[in-house]
Amino acid sequence: MSHSLIADLRWRYATKHFAAGKTISPETWNQLEESLLLTPSSFGLQPWKFLVITSPEMKQKLLAHSWGQKQVTDCSHFVVFAGKTTMDHQYIDEFLADTAAKRGTTVESMAGYRKMMTGYLVHDARSGQIEEWSARQCYIALGQFMLACASLRVDACPMEGFVPAEYDKILGLTERGLTATVCCAAGYRSEADKYASLAKVRYPKEKLVEYL
Ligand SMILES: Cc1cc2nc3c(=O)[nH]c(=O)nc-3n(C[C@H](O)[C@H](O)[C@H](O)COP(=O)(O)O)c2cc1C
Repeated sequence: MSHSLIADLRWRYATKHFAAGKTISPETWNQLEESLLLTPSSFGLQPWKFLVITSPEMKQKLLAHSWGQKQVTDCSHFVVFAGKTTMDHQYIDEFLADTAAKRGTTVESMAGYRKMMTGYLVHDARSGQIEEWSARQCYIALGQFMLACASLRVDACPMEGFVPAEYDKILGLTERGLTATVCCAAGYRSEADKYASLAKVRYPKEKLVEYL
């Protein structure tokens, strides 16, 4: 088990050239989508939307604001991780109602939890930093998605090389209280991608891991 986990992580690399036209099957995509939905988040609030771009026209529009990175258009599924920019009572109450329904309990029994969340995210220090807070959650989703891709032998390229303000405009995110945080192209590597065979560049454990 642990062998295959590390093998998966060694297999993956940030894919620069995707085989255009090679698409992820619906069965495989369903699992990758599920990996997005199963991402843990602070309080469980899931402050995000995952925009999955497969339309060639939309990919082309985004390419213009992606530092010319062709992964956007050549991949099969291009995922934009959009984080929430605002937090309010309504959003938190919706989450509590969902929790109550899923766990067969009442919203009233979670009054303390509600107070903690609204205090932290709506009234106190964190309230002015929701965009930053949501972004951190989005990166957890990105990490989980990349691992899921690797374990299913789907290639991926995490991407920060894009202009968020332009993405927000094209995807109509600002008016929905969202912003493009990070992206990930997923699909299958082109045989010609020389990056696939480059050695991994990672520091040795002595430099990074400390046991106390
Ligand atoms: C948050 C994040 C943003 C990144 N943005 C880009 C990007 O815009 N374009 C790109 O080609 N690679 C991007 N990368 C890939 C990194 O350069 C790559 O993961 C790193 O060099 C390690 O190499 P490996 O993933 O192939 O092992 C990004 C990686 C991360 C984690």
